[in-house]
Amino acid sequence: MPVERLDGRVAIVTGGGGRIGAATARRLASEGAKVIVADRSREAAESVARDIGDCALPFIFDAGEPESIRAMVETTVQRFGRIDILHNNAALLDVDFLNSDTDVVNISLPAWDKTMEVNVRGYVVACKHAIPHMRAVGGGVIINTSSNAALAGDSARIAYGASKAAINALTRHIATQHGRENIRCNAVSPGLITDPELEARFPDLHAVSARHTPLPRYGRGEDMAALVAFLASDDGSFITGQVICCDGGMLAHQPTYADIIENPSL
Ligand SMILES: NC(=O)c1ccc[n+]([C@@H]2O[C@H](COP(=O)([O-])OP(=O)(O)OC[C@H]3O[C@@H](n4cnc5c(N)ncnc54)[C@H](O)[C@@H]3O)[C@@H](O)[C@H]2O)c1
Repeated sequence: MPVERLDGRVAIVTGGGGRIGAATARRLASEGAKVIVADRSREAAESVARDIGDCALPFIFDAGEPESIRAMVETTVQRFGRIDILHNNAALLDVDFLNSDTDVVNISLPAWDKTMEVNVRGYVVACKHAIPHMRAVGGGVIINTSSNAALAGDSARIAYGASKAAINALTRHIATQHGRENIRCNAVSPGLITDPELEARFPDLHAVSARHTPLPRYGRGEDMAALVAFLASDDGSFITGQVICCDGGMLAHQPTYADIIENPSL
């Protein structure tokens, strides 16, 4: 594994207490970055930052509260002197809330608005405050966590899918508008990214996902972390404005794939 690729860089990882964010904060730190582990959950942010060690600090914020996002960016600059990498990754994922995110007929307008407020405006506000600091040091990298829900329709979660599609458009516009300032912006699009605890809780969901995924294993936070670290490093220095799937091939194939490999006579 490449080491010290991010030596001297300063990163913010939002949702840093969660599955993907924690793995990413650990990976960026292991490659030399100083990391702000930013999350709504104090317990999660502090635990991840403590685990990483001296080069990480927890920051408690709410992606739905613009003032707390501004404070996250300003605190990063005060504590570490600069911002090189912004990984916008927090999203509204509370199970009860997601269950209310159904279809266009039945979703409530407050649920729609709340989704856009956290998932889209939260990323916008972070970029708004971070980009001037990136400009001041000659460039920077933004990596937005999107979702395959932006790239294909689903039976539910219309607001979530639309919010992630907005992230893909936001990514391309930021890449275009700030490229000449040496600021890159890409989106990473996970398929199912899971862990043993979720596998045990939702075996049927995992079985369906496995059926439709060409690669013979489940995705882990570490898979996303490796992609984010690559994009954040100089190894990704000519890549901008892209939406990159990390999904074991889930969206790469024909919808009939699973039926056909299970019944070759078709
Ligand atoms: N895991 C997957 O299968 C999957 C698939 C597609 C997209 N994603 C995206 O990946 C990102 C991370 O997901 P994850 O699987 O790590 O989820 P997770 O639930 O493990 O982590 C999310 C983290 O975000 C924090 N958070 C939630 N709301 C917040 C808010 N308003 N302000 C600040 N922090 C907040 C939570 O406390 C949690 O620590 C999300 O953007 C999600 O939409 C995940």
